[in-house]
Order: sequence, then C-alpha cells, then structure tokens
Amino acid sequence: MNNFVYYNPTKIIFGVDTTNKVGKEAKNYGKRVLMILGQGSIKKIGLYDKVINILKEEGLEIFELEGVKPNPRVDLVRKGIKIVKENNIDLLLAVGGGSVIDTAKAIAAGLSYDGDVWDLFKYRKPIKPTIPIGVILTLAATGSEMNGNAVISNLETQEKLAISSSYLYPKFSILDPKNTITVPLNHTLYGIVDILSHVFEQYFDKTDGAVLQDRFAEAIVKTVIETTPKLIENPEDINARSIILWCGTNALNGIIGVGKEHDWASHAIEHAISAIYDISHGLGLAIIFPHWMKYVIDAIPHKFAQFARNVWNIEGKENFELGLKGIDRLIEFYESIGVPTKLSKIGIGEEKLEEMAEKATIFGPIGTVKKLDKNDVLNILKMSL
Ligand code: NZQ
Ligand code: ZN
Repeated sequence: MNNFVYYNPTKIIFGVDTTNKVGKEAKNYGKRVLMILGQGSIKKIGLYDKVINILKEEGLEIFELEGVKPNPRVDLVRKGIKIVKENNIDLLLAVGGGSVIDTAKAIAAGLSYDGDVWDLFKYRKPIKPTIPIGVILTLAATGSEMNGNAVISNLETQEKLAISSSYLYPKFSILDPKNTITVPLNHTLYGIVDILSHVFEQYFDKTDGAVLQDRFAEAIVKTVIETTPKLIENPEDINARSIILWCGTNALNGIIGVGKEHDWASHAIEHAISAIYDISHGLGLAIIFPHWMKYVIDAIPHKFAQFARNVWNIEGKENFELGLKGIDRLIEFYESIGVPTKLSKIGIGEEKLEEMAEKATIFGPIGTVKKLDKNDVLNILKMSL
C-alpha cells in the first residue's frame, strides 16, 4: 500500500426526512442562498416547494439558477457566476443529481478565478478558495456530494472535462433517500453503473497490499449487485434506495481509493463519448468498462481473478481465464438489468471513434494499469462497437 493523506470535510446528513434540516445548515453560511436546479423534476416531486419553505422559515433570501442539463454546460456555469457576483450570494445550494452539484462546484471555482471559467478545465489553472456549497442530493450515482470533483461540458468545443480541488467539497450534503424514489428506472440504473464504475477505477490498479480498501470495494460491488433487482422490482423500497445512496457516496468519497494508484481511463473515454453524443454517463460506462477490462486484464490477471472469486464466487486455477469469467459475469449483470454493453445498441457507429480517441487522450496517455495512448483507446472503442 502507498502512503496517503485522507481529507474529507463534507458533513453528511443521511436519512429519511433529513431534508428538513437544510434551513439550519444553510443559515450557518449567511443569508443569501443561490439554489441551483435541474430541468424540473425537483418541482414535479414537490421538493422545490418544500426546500423554499424551509429556507424562508429561517429568514433566508433565495435566488435561483434553473435549467442544468445532464452533461452540464459551461454556459450555465457562466450565468451562475454572474448571478453570484451581482447578488452577493453567501451559499450555493445544489438541489439535484451530479450535474446540478457539478454546476455549483464549477460556479464556485470560476468565482475565484479572474479569467473565463473554462480555462480551469482546459488549461488546468489552479483553483482557489471560494464560496461554500451545500447539497440536497436527489440521485445516487456520482459521489459528487462528498468529493471535490466537477465535470462540465462545452458544446462549442465538444469537450467534457473535469476539475478537482479540496476547495470544492460541499460543506454539507443532505442524503434523504425519499428524494431519490422518483428517479426514473433508466437513470436509477445508469447511476448504479456509475457507482460500480467508480469502484472499478480504484479497485483495478497495480498497487498490492491495500487489502482493506479491496474488501471495502468488493463489499460495495456485492451490495449494489444484490440490491439492484430489489429496486427494479420495487422502486419505492426505501431501504433499497438508502443502501444504493450510501454505496454511491462511499464509492467516490476517497475512502476506498486511499493508498492506491487508481486508473480512470474508462471515465476519460466515456467523457469523450458523452461530449460528442450527449449520452448518460452511466450508459457510456456500461459499454466501455467491460471492454477496457478485457484490454488490460493481462497486466493484472491476479486482480481480475480476485474480482471473480470475491465478487462472483467463481473458482478456477488459472488467473487469466478466471478473470475473464468475472468480466463476463459483469456483462451478464448489466444485460440482465437492461443496460446495453455495446455502442451499436445505442446507435453509435464507427464514424467518430477516431475523434473520441483523440479527445480522451487530450492531456496525454490515460490510465495506470496500462498507459493507453490514442491508438489503444481506439482499439477499446472498436471492441465496444
Ligand atoms: O434535470 P432534472 O429535471 O432534475 O432531471 C434529472 C436528469 O434528467 C433526473 N433526476 C435527478 N433526480 C431526480 C430526477 N428525476 C426524478 N426524480 C429525482 N429525484 O435525472 C437525470 C440525470 O441527472 P444527472 O444529475 O445528470 O445525473 P447524475 O447524478 O448521474 O450526474 C451525471 C453527471 O455527473 C458527472 C457525469 O459525467 C455527468 O455529467 N460525474 C461527476 C462526477 C463527480 N463530480 O465526482 C464523477 C462521475 O464519474 C461523473 O463523471
Ligand atoms: Zn462516473
């Protein structure tokens, strides 16, 4: 295991009806709150009215930025920065899924930067201390509620890029499973794939000896696999929603990845796909990840064999063969819950593979299990067709 520093300042407020606590939490950071919202689901489910009432009861002044789209756009981030500057906002309150939270983080990052916010993504300019962020999470998936990452798309340049900073961790995140009950089945499942993929990015690496992290990672995967059919059968199963919600947070709050190298190539490839085709992040990952696994398995066959044994309970003597069986089981699982694992199944052909490979490697080779250059990424994309 490698040396590490673990830092996570986000206060988690978890459980049924914890939404009621947002007023008191928000008040700790000042009077003027900018609520950041998606495209209407939060209003439909009554959460919007509820939050407004709670904030008003605490005497807070509310401003709004509505319309965050999945694969959130830098244009809206720029609009948010303007609102914050003009209205002397004290707190950004993201009410939604990862796209809404990431928009809030990008606004925060852009506020303490003199130039255009996109420079932070494209040219990796340093991120400085900034305004506080609070979260009411409505979709289990990204882990953005308890990490310092934000992923934003630029339609003009067809790029989707990430930033990461310790200044962007939310001050508090309210995880009320009731708020996730209305997530449609497709987004519930894409969220589940995203959660699993976050575990895989940290689990499959070349670091030996991180046994506790591995066991924790395997526990998340097994828990998600066991809980998903229950959620499909009954989307209102509040305990199943709670379990998935907590798995999602733990999959990307840093804890399972301490002392390890991580890979993140599959995420870079997926971001290149959704930058061009605007598909859901989890859907892209279900397609790319198993093929990435098959492409790199020969670098760490023992790790893939461990995955097969500990997650899928398959036995076998030869690591490579056993590892492949584990990957096939993952593909079977995705197909069994109705999530496709091929680009052709979602109407993507070979036209833009080259462009995607180029975009995925814009900062140089990606991944650590195998360092992948543009040609490797192209091979993986071809395997995924
Ligand atoms: O826009 P609204 O109307 O709110 O609808 C959303 C959206 O259509 C809907 N939804 C959310 N909560 C709901 C609900 N519908 C009904 N009831 C609810 N309670 O779900 C749809 C998808 O929402 P979105 O926020 O886009 O999903 P997700 O949380 O999966 O976020 C995906 C984004 O996060 C990025 C992805 O790349 C993608 O852009 N990621 C962020 C990461 C991070 N910050 O750490 C890491 C991830 O790997 C990922 O890259
Ligand atoms: Zn992800």
